[in-house]
Amino acid sequence: MTEIPLTGGNVSAGVVRVGDTVRRPAGPWTPSVHALLGHLHSVGFPGAPRPLGLDERGREVLEFIDGDVPWPGRVDLLLPDAAVVAVGELVRDFHDAVAGFVPPADAAWQVLMPADGAEIVAHHDLAPWNLVAGRGRWAFIDWDTAAPGTRLWDLAYAANGFALLPEGAGVAEAARRMRLMADAYDLTEAQRHELVDLLGPRARAMHDFLGAQSAAGTEPWRKLWDTGHGTHWRRRADHLDRHRDAWLRALLG
Ligand SMILES: Nc1ncnc2c1ncn2[C@@H]1O[C@H](COP(=O)(O)OP(=O)(O)OP(=O)(O)O)[C@@H](O)[C@H]1O
Ligand SMILES: [Mg+2]
Repeated sequence: MTEIPLTGGNVSAGVVRVGDTVRRPAGPWTPSVHALLGHLHSVGFPGAPRPLGLDERGREVLEFIDGDVPWPGRVDLLLPDAAVVAVGELVRDFHDAVAGFVPPADAAWQVLMPADGAEIVAHHDLAPWNLVAGRGRWAFIDWDTAAPGTRLWDLAYAANGFALLPEGAGVAEAARRMRLMADAYDLTEAQRHELVDLLGPRARAMHDFLGAQSAAGTEPWRKLWDTGHGTHWRRRADHLDRHRDAWLRALLG
């Protein structure tokens, strides 16, 4: 069958579509990731692709989800209030669905950076480049770096990616969108405080990770660092820290 290259990712070369499936390079973490995706499917969570095993070339096979990936070409899809609400609900539904997941005894995750805990298996890259906005169904893709983490570690990262839109939006608008997301996730008051405390540190963890990997010469991170991704995350972290009071007011007001 014809293989259609899928572009858009920074990390995995060789992602292709074959019929109704996607083929991606597998890694030592793939069996654990497929156990996770199988669990999500079995409990009826529709926001992730179904895992379909390995193909004859050893690549992972996943359900192809038809739709648009918002980043970078269709960010407009994320601008309506209903979109940021849908993302907040989707992250909540994922976290509730994953709560009952028991990883295989020999689970091997790809852990890029330490999280702030391990209450769930988190996605770690819930961002506009890893969302497929499909007709009737939105789903997160790119589960390669799923690993132990916390709900708020995932949500702080998602808030950074989905609430701070459009690029260059003012603090008031970003704070308003963050409130929509927090309400959609149904955060408690205590969690709202915790989330605000994590926003800057979560972004800074990205900067520090890319910096360390770049210094060690590890690809693809070195290339990302060289093309300004480190600077981007540092600026984001500073911005999130600087406006801490605005986020807190919006979330608690
Ligand atoms: N299950 C899927 N259904 C539909 N499209 C998909 C699916 N998986 C991947 N794609 C498409 O392939 C592109 C790259 O996939 P993916 O995000 O998995 O790669 P990556 O290089 O690991 O990404 P990243 O840079 O975010 O780490 C996506 O932008 C999307 O267009
Ligand atoms: Mg991706």
